[in-house]
Amino acid sequence: MVSPRRSAAFLPLLLVALLVLVLQASPAKADNPDSAWGWSTIKPASGSEQVTVPVRGSSASILTLMDSSYTASKIKTVLIQVHGHGRDPWNYYNHNTAARSKAESSLGVDPSTVLSIAPFFMGIGDKNNGAIPEGNPSNWLCFEGDYWAGGYSNLCPDGVQGVSSFEAMDALVAWASNRSRFPNVDRVVISGHSLGGQFVQRYAHFGRPSTSAELHFWVGNAASFLYYSKDRPVPLADLTACKAYNRYLYGSAALSDRLGAYGVGDIGAAQSTYNSRNVHLGIGLQDHAAGVLGCEAKVQGSGHYERATGYINYLRQFKGGFPSRHTVDYVTSSHDARTMLTKKVTLQRLFTDYYAKGIKTPSTLPNGSINNGVQSTFART
Ligand SMILES: *[C@@H]1O[C@H](CO)[C@@H](O)[C@H](O)[C@H]1NC(C)=O
Ligand SMILES: *[C@@H]1O[C@H](CO)[C@@H](O)[C@H](O)[C@H]1NC(C)=O
Repeated sequence: MVSPRRSAAFLPLLLVALLVLVLQASPAKADNPDSAWGWSTIKPASGSEQVTVPVRGSSASILTLMDSSYTASKIKTVLIQVHGHGRDPWNYYNHNTAARSKAESSLGVDPSTVLSIAPFFMGIGDKNNGAIPEGNPSNWLCFEGDYWAGGYSNLCPDGVQGVSSFEAMDALVAWASNRSRFPNVDRVVISGHSLGGQFVQRYAHFGRPSTSAELHFWVGNAASFLYYSKDRPVPLADLTACKAYNRYLYGSAALSDRLGAYGVGDIGAAQSTYNSRNVHLGIGLQDHAAGVLGCEAKVQGSGHYERATGYINYLRQFKGGFPSRHTVDYVTSSHDARTMLTKKVTLQRLFTDYYAKGIKTPSTLPNGSINNGVQSTFART
């Protein structure tokens, strides 16, 4: 208990202390995983239940929120919706529900053919704040703050090491496309907005999902993308001020240090894998927000829109141009997951695009071009 008088006296000191912390934190920790904060409880979401999916047998698993009732034989599409920086799968489960019901009314999708899953990439902060019980018998994985988005290795459960968040997604895809469980599953969609989009974009490069279903990757308003060289669409001065800008998960330096078994092989192989996958970029035309990020992301462009268009211009420079299996949708939205995920074209990506059957919605290009008319000038150190 601090009396008002005492707290008033301490206020200037507190402000100075905070200022010192902020000044120390921002330049030094450009790539800060933000591991301190965390949830104390796991929230419910209407229509879902907690389902633990094994990753390494029962010694490491991932917690998900999943539809609590469905008829397995009816499932054709499994929609895996990855949360963002806020690690709030309950909100993303709700976004899936909203998207699925809009797909029913606007596209005629039968909701009983879609299974919704929102995985929880827990943080060490969630453990420290009580959301993961001590000695958790389910052996849920947890990661260091935001580092799950890059495929880095786990911190929980105790005694289990080297489990990448990509391995967790591989296990989830295998679980979801197991025809003994879902005899009619033919599409699996891995979707994420913001930090979830960063995860999906990296997973589309390095993930090794084993499935006979058609996979789709939806990347919404990602705050950064994986570059294959040191080129970035900003002035040279910005690059020289950001020493580690080409380190994974932003570039290809230190790939194997950070990705372990998933980083084996060269960046060119990862690029080929990415090009071969069905990737859909969703871009909010009003999403100029910078996000709370280090310089590694900011040298890809000032905001989410700028980073996406810069990256598209980057990919266009390679032989073959922009990957032919990829689509780009510019839609009216700011940095808002629900708005992005319930746009008609997003619903088509999530629920109806099926390349094996020739169903491929064209890119939504209001300016007629894949880069929306944005010119980029690249620099490199
Ligand atoms: C598929 O599911 C069945 C039944 O749940 C299980 O026995 C089998 O091991 C699974 N297959 C794979 C490849 O995971
Ligand atoms: C189309 O591109 C021009 C720049 O070439 C830009 O000013 C305009 O805002 C773009 N339109 C949309 C809908 O993004």
